[in-house]
Amino acid sequence: MTTTSTARSTVPRGATAGPRPLAWGRRYLLVDPAHFRVDYAINPFMDLADQPDPARVREQWDGLVRALVEAGAEVEVLAGRPDSPDMVYAMNLGLVVDDRALVSHMRYPQRRREQASATPWFAGQGLRPVHVGRDGVGPHLEAGDAFAFGDALVVGYGPRTEELALKHLATELDVRVRGLRISHPSMYHLDLAFCPLDETRAMVCPAAFDDASAAAALAIVPEPLVLTEEEALTFCANSVVVGTTVLMPACPARVRRVLEGWGFDVVLLELGELHKGGGSVRCLTNPLDVRRGRDLPSVPGGEVLLP
Ligand code: ARG
Repeated sequence: MTTTSTARSTVPRGATAGPRPLAWGRRYLLVDPAHFRVDYAINPFMDLADQPDPARVREQWDGLVRALVEAGAEVEVLAGRPDSPDMVYAMNLGLVVDDRALVSHMRYPQRRREQASATPWFAGQGLRPVHVGRDGVGPHLEAGDAFAFGDALVVGYGPRTEELALKHLATELDVRVRGLRISHPSMYHLDLAFCPLDETRAMVCPAAFDDASAAAALAIVPEPLVLTEEEALTFCANSVVVGTTVLMPACPARVRRVLEGWGFDVVLLELGELHKGGGSVRCLTNPLDVRRGRDLPSVPGGEVLLP
């Protein structure tokens, strides 16, 4: 495996102050893992010959719920569907901002049945479901590609989310969208290569993007924790941050040194069985508490910025 040549010094720019915690990330939707299987292969990690063991899946997923609660987060659980073996990756069900749920329009038809359960769940929570496309018509949008960070909604596009969806997101939500083109086949969602840590810091793997987007990604983050390709492929960016606690499936020693040096606590979780579908901590959790104004500036009419 090669390590990226675009990774630069890990020494953060400027003074190293303690974390300025994100206001969001205190309430999550998870999907019960009872129906998790590998029935098809839509990303490079999925192998039909390597099926998850249900008892270990349950144990590992329970451990994730426990760790979220211990870190101070609230957890909502939606039942999975027997016809949707990937539904456990709740991050992709939709993007919740204020009282709206931008319902994902999955690239692969195998995942589109999930919305038959997710959309009514959002509505039942008082969230207004908004569709940018559905049932194969309209642009694809997968919520694992979108994060509020800094002055914008940062959105990865290419493997899953389509560029056209960025425009819909910006106008529907009245926000600025900063698009990043993903080019790495194994980092097919933004949440495998980008993880907001606090108001000015995020993990970023430039090797996930084309050159212009790699530069744009680094410019978006005042103090980036730059990951090599090899580091990112441990799924370490697929982590969740609750206040100053980082819940991680893996943490290379160098990454841990930087995080702890900044004042974060690292909690490592064993999620190997869930990795068989190609996702980890972040993919399994969907934040429900992102607010415009607080976490994401309002930009009337919306705006899309591409590298
Ligand atoms: N098997 C799922 C898929 O390929 C994994 C989703 C991982 N989720 C994520 N947010 N990256 O769609």
